[in-house]
Amino acid sequence: MLRFTLLLLLVFCSVLDSSSARPAPFAMRISCGARQNVHTKPTNTLWFKDFAYTGGIPANSSAPSFITPPLKTLRYFPLSEGPENCYIINRVPKGHYNVRVFFGLVKLPNFDTEPLFDISVEGTQIYSLKSGWSGHDDQAFAEALVFLTDGTVSICFHSTGHGDPAILALEILQVDSKSYYFGPEWGEGVILRTVTRLSCGNGKPKFDVDYSGDHWGGDRFWSPIKTFGQNSDQIRSTETSIKQNAKAPNYYPEALYQTALVSTDNQPNFAYTMDVDPNRNYSVWLHFAEIDDSVRSAGKRVFDILINGNVVFQDVDVVKMSGGQYTALVLNTTVPINGRTLTITLQPKGGSHAIINAIEVFEVIVAELKTLPEEVRALQTLKNSLGLPHRLGWNGDPCVPKQHPWRGADCQFDKTSNKWVIDGLGLDNQGLRGFLPIDISRLRHLQSINLSGNSIRGAIPSSVGTIASLEVLDLSYNFLNGSIPESLGKLTSLRRLNLNGNSLSGRVPAALGGSLLHHRASFNFTDNAGLCGIPGLPTCGPHLSTGAKIGIGFGVLIIVLLLVVCSVVWWKRRQNIQRAQQIAARGAPYAKSRTQLSHDIQLARHHYHHGARHASENGPSLLS
Ligand SMILES: *[C@@H]1O[C@H](CO)[C@@H](O)[C@H](O)[C@H]1NC(C)=O
Ligand SMILES: *[C@@H]1O[C@H](CO)[C@@H](O)[C@H](O)[C@H]1NC(C)=O
Ligand SMILES: *[C@@H]1O[C@H](CO)[C@@H](O)[C@H](O)[C@H]1NC(C)=O
Ligand SMILES: *[C@@H]1O[C@H](CO)[C@@H](O)[C@H](O)[C@H]1NC(C)=O
Ligand SMILES: *[C@@H]1O[C@H](CO)[C@@H](O)[C@H](O)[C@H]1NC(C)=O
Ligand SMILES: *[C@@H]1O[C@H](CO)[C@@H](O)[C@H](O)[C@H]1NC(C)=O
Repeated sequence: MLRFTLLLLLVFCSVLDSSSARPAPFAMRISCGARQNVHTKPTNTLWFKDFAYTGGIPANSSAPSFITPPLKTLRYFPLSEGPENCYIINRVPKGHYNVRVFFGLVKLPNFDTEPLFDISVEGTQIYSLKSGWSGHDDQAFAEALVFLTDGTVSICFHSTGHGDPAILALEILQVDSKSYYFGPEWGEGVILRTVTRLSCGNGKPKFDVDYSGDHWGGDRFWSPIKTFGQNSDQIRSTETSIKQNAKAPNYYPEALYQTALVSTDNQPNFAYTMDVDPNRNYSVWLHFAEIDDSVRSAGKRVFDILINGNVVFQDVDVVKMSGGQYTALVLNTTVPINGRTLTITLQPKGGSHAIINAIEVFEVIVAELKTLPEEVRALQTLKNSLGLPHRLGWNGDPCVPKQHPWRGADCQFDKTSNKWVIDGLGLDNQGLRGFLPIDISRLRHLQSINLSGNSIRGAIPSSVGTIASLEVLDLSYNFLNGSIPESLGKLTSLRRLNLNGNSLSGRVPAALGGSLLHHRASFNFTDNAGLCGIPGLPTCGPHLSTGAKIGIGFGVLIIVLLLVVCSVVWWKRRQNIQRAQQIAARGAPYAKSRTQLSHDIQLARHHYHHGARHASENGPSLLS
């Protein structure tokens, strides 16, 4: 019995568990310029300080709008920090995210330039701030739904020369991976930028969190709208609970459907018009719930929906399509807009009145393809080793957004890798004062390098000779030293080579001279420490072939060997003599006795051999 109860308990628990199995969505909120983490009321939301962020200048903020979170600091980016500045946030799980950027105004007397700048997410420009934004509460932020697939998110601010970009806060909020699916074009290559979200018949601006919405909805912001204008409509509201609102993947808050605008007899066609950027595609999401108690069955309220005069939904009958009263209905459609306005018209049929609870409009943005990661890394190495000045920026992606490529890096689209690559470096006269890194050759699509007129030191890395597509190499007027690497001779496409005004020395590689002359390329080697070897330059000192060098080497070796052998022989001989002398000195008695002996013999012989006596008398003198 006990076991059965336990089992039941287990089953019950696992059921409970599976219902709450979904983990909380990833959420990262950053209070820019803050030294400490901040908690804001009333929801006790946690905002992280912008840890380890070094660019830009932290400052106190004055909130431009009551919608913005109550944070006291911001970070702004004067042009001296460079035209491109980014937050790069790591360890963001792969998924679909609502990314939101709140703008700020620096709180300083005389700081009244309203900053206008562009914002990009993952290399795609999503928004340009519009003049006058700081006077409109609902324009204090930009927001977009983005797929993040590589574990990081980069959010960049691009100066347009009008004021300094100033950022109050960033939010990276995970949403359902299928949210806002609008058709086959939807997917990882598409970004949906929020143009507007309207809660019809409501009086107060609200975030999902204020509506107690599901966190997987991405804490959307809903602007209130009480009328579409000119007594065309009336507000309806209800306390009755709504069915089918919090469904995956979009999890709309219930309260969104508890207020509505209903058209009146005064103006049966009622319409909402908004300003948009022309020549874009817009995804329009319309929300309905029949909350008018008088409309109880199908056929009582039927209307058509038009966008800019074209019917997009015909015979909309909310009760029929949602399955009953107090039940949510969501319709979406994507339309191209050529003009500057988008008008949504509800056109009632058969004397009924139209109803609408909420409107969402997104701009459909095709995500940019990024730069080949290997080339981005090579440019970053180059940036560090050349000591690139801040004012050049070089943050984010080099080639995208297309509106804001890095200054000094020329981009080309590479069809084989389906990525952008770097085909030119134009950093002449930029006050660079480092050295050329070996990694420069990783920019293997380079056709042109101009680093003329800087203070670059050290040698020309021989890896430059592996950039096969190089046509122009201008390193003139720097402090380069050493010799020209042999490898440059392999650059067969080179048309122009300027190395004048450096401290280069030694022989110009013969292959290089040959190919330059052969291609009638223009080159300039003047004003160096001493280059030689091709027509137009001084001839180098006596030149020896490798064979001759080997021969000379051999000769020298043999002479050295001979000298060694001779000195060894001489030394040995000298040692022998020395030893003999030592023996003579030490062995005097023996010598004497022997002399004595020989003397005796000689004496004995004396009578027979005269010459022998002389020899034996001279005997010891031989050893002296
Ligand atoms: C910001 O305001 C605080 C007081 O609220 C002040 O102590 C601080 O110096 C200010 N910071 C800047 C950069 O002005
Ligand atoms: C949006 O509309 C498309 C077709 O137009 C439909 O396939 C899709 O399911 C709709 N999305 C949602 C979330 O209702
Ligand atoms: C709008 O969508 C159509 C169809 O998907 C596409 O061909 C067109 O390029 C899009 N226009 C813009 C400006 O993105
Ligand atoms: C490189 O830049 C310098 C200085 O701006 C310019 O005079 C020179 O013509 C450029 N070199 C090439 C090969 O275009
Ligand atoms: C080149 O200059 C660097 C310093 O700028 C120096 O360390 C190096 O020894 C020089 N090399 C030659 C070959 O003169
Ligand atoms: C080479 O550069 C020098 C200055 O370093 C200049 O005077 C000369 O005219 C240049 N020669 C050519 C052929 O461009």
